[in-house]
Amino acid sequence: MQKITIKDILRMKGREKIAAITAYDYPSALVADDVGFEIILVGDSASMVIHGNDNTLSIGMEEMLMHTKAVCKGVKRSLVVSDMPFLSYQVSEEEAIRNAGSFLKAGADAVKLEGGKEISSLIRKLVSYGIPVMGHIGMNPQKFKIYGGFKLQGKDKYSLLEDAKSLEEAGVFSIVLEKVPYESARYITENVSVPTIGIGAGPYTDGQILVFHDVLGLIPHYKFKFVRRYLEGYSVFKEALSKFKGDIKSSNFPTLEESYE
Ligand code: KIV
Repeated sequence: MQKITIKDILRMKGREKIAAITAYDYPSALVADDVGFEIILVGDSASMVIHGNDNTLSIGMEEMLMHTKAVCKGVKRSLVVSDMPFLSYQVSEEEAIRNAGSFLKAGADAVKLEGGKEISSLIRKLVSYGIPVMGHIGMNPQKFKIYGGFKLQGKDKYSLLEDAKSLEEAGVFSIVLEKVPYESARYITENVSVPTIGIGAGPYTDGQILVFHDVLGLIPHYKFKFVRRYLEGYSVFKEALSKFKGDIKSSNFPTLEESYE
């Protein structure tokens, strides 16, 4: 079983769809790697789906490094990308390089930064120092206060191409397109040489990513138009836990077979 490299991801453009998913801990990484997702993203969405915050701004380097280390222990083959959290790359170039490097030291294969041409010179530097970078344009959740919510971006299909091109020129190995109309995503995908990975960006991107907890329906009130749920995980967990609780209450757990003599 060969570890996926950024060269493998680059080669997949136009040949095979890239399958990606988020993971935040050892068990989610174990199953995602076992299924064969090419990319596992340790997303800063951990702030919402693991830590229960309303947005991604409050997670920091310490938590993201902790999630990255746990994920890397569960992964043998997938390419692990870690999200650089809010304020870990915006304050100074020096801090950004140190923070990005610490994800690689923690076991990640690459980092992801939100933003377009405003961060392309930083990305060029990171790549020149040996830190592979995934770009992320369209709806950048770290900028939700500017948008006034997690709003659809790139309604004019030409508006994001300049950002995509500047990321491509800076050396990213792929670009996440989040919450943009599918015609915008198609236009960008056809006009950049690196793979695009869509989330809420329609069917014409080179790959797709969704949040682990959304795919498995683990948080019942998180329901988005672009998510397809493959399990009602919350109900499945609830039913199992209710049975466990019932067995404790009725003295059906544990049996003597589940006990030591
Ligand atoms: O944090 C995250 O989960 C992400 C994906 C939505 C792409 O950035």
